[in-house]
Amino acid sequence: MSAVDLKPLAERAGLNDYELSQISDLLGIQWAPMNIPMSRRLQTLAAFVWIYLILFGEALAIYLFIQLVYSRFWWAAILYGVWMLNDIDICHRGGRVSQWVRNWTWWRYLCDYFPINLVKTVDLDPSKNYMFAIFPHGVISLGAFGSFCTNATNFHKLFPGMSCHLITLGGHFLVPFFRDLALAIGMCASSEQSLLHLLDQKKYEGNAVCMIIGGAAEALDAHPKEYKVILSRRKGFIRVAMKSGASLVPVFSFGETDLFHPPNNPENSLLRRFQEKVRQWTGISPMFPMGRGLFQYSYGVLPIRSPVTTVVGAPMEVKRNLEPTNEEIDAVHAEFTKRLQTLFETEKVKYLKYHEEATLVIT
Ligand SMILES: *[C@@H]1O[C@H](CO)[C@@H](O)[C@H](O)[C@H]1NC(C)=O
Ligand SMILES: *[C@@H]1O[C@H](CO)[C@@H](O)[C@H](O)[C@H]1NC(C)=O
Repeated sequence: MSAVDLKPLAERAGLNDYELSQISDLLGIQWAPMNIPMSRRLQTLAAFVWIYLILFGEALAIYLFIQLVYSRFWWAAILYGVWMLNDIDICHRGGRVSQWVRNWTWWRYLCDYFPINLVKTVDLDPSKNYMFAIFPHGVISLGAFGSFCTNATNFHKLFPGMSCHLITLGGHFLVPFFRDLALAIGMCASSEQSLLHLLDQKKYEGNAVCMIIGGAAEALDAHPKEYKVILSRRKGFIRVAMKSGASLVPVFSFGETDLFHPPNNPENSLLRRFQEKVRQWTGISPMFPMGRGLFQYSYGVLPIRSPVTTVVGAPMEVKRNLEPTNEEIDAVHAEFTKRLQTLFETEKVKYLKYHEEATLVIT
């Protein structure tokens, strides 16, 4: 097929069909067709810019800030720096969401690329607060991002009267400029203070705190068709839910692990040991998001066009308990684990083509 689609280019380059197909085969590259509709091109562009922002955005922001310091606009850098230091705590106090940024068309194209869909199983009561516990992390949590950081998947239509905040590492809010985007899409830091603030019934109604429980550690296990999640040793979120009395909601992103095919990194392999070391030092897992490229499907960091469905399960009531004992936490944890398993088993049939081989592995 490539030879036909690339014909105009090949003719200009003086290649005939046969030569072109030989070159493609030699490189082992599967080219994207040339006659792609504009909307699909814009989707690819949206995903392209986004993945580079995730991979290099923070380094770029720091570079730009340093450039600004040494430019003749150094005073702007100082003003920003002072303002940022003054504002540094905001990520623990509810953040600073901008409905305008969350409604950007960019996010719609990004979500339509895969596509990402948000699905509810029951209605939620907008007079209560909830803790959404999201699985799996995948390589870069695109389902959670599209569903809970943007208005592109209709969160507000599905859950009228509710708001949501995705929780991430506090370190991201120390990066100039980058932090402003993170705050604008509703992100907050993962401290206990931050969570209890967002779940405080006196401050918020209908607030959903969205946490990717497995975090960066779980990202290392993101391989296509595999659903290996970290939950057994994660109990902090249960304690916070109990302290605040927020209902726990299991959330599962089906297809999240299909977006990249990272290199094999079994436990104890050299690559895995390297990744674990970096994670212990920085809190961030070094990832190799191997997907596709802009104009071909064989190499690159662009995620694979494959659907992600984020399913919001039924809430589990949690009795408010300011000082839960370990036994009480374990009981709630066990019940939640059961509910997550049930959600996975009942919903996978609808959203995974390979549901018969898909099993949830909880570690
Ligand atoms: C979310 O998007 C819908 C259109 O899909 C729009 O009607 C609504 O006003 C948006 N809500 C916010 C809060 O931006
Ligand atoms: C959000 O964006 C949609 C489509 O781009 C637009 O129709 C809607 O009015 C916007 N909503 C708000 C509240 O800005």
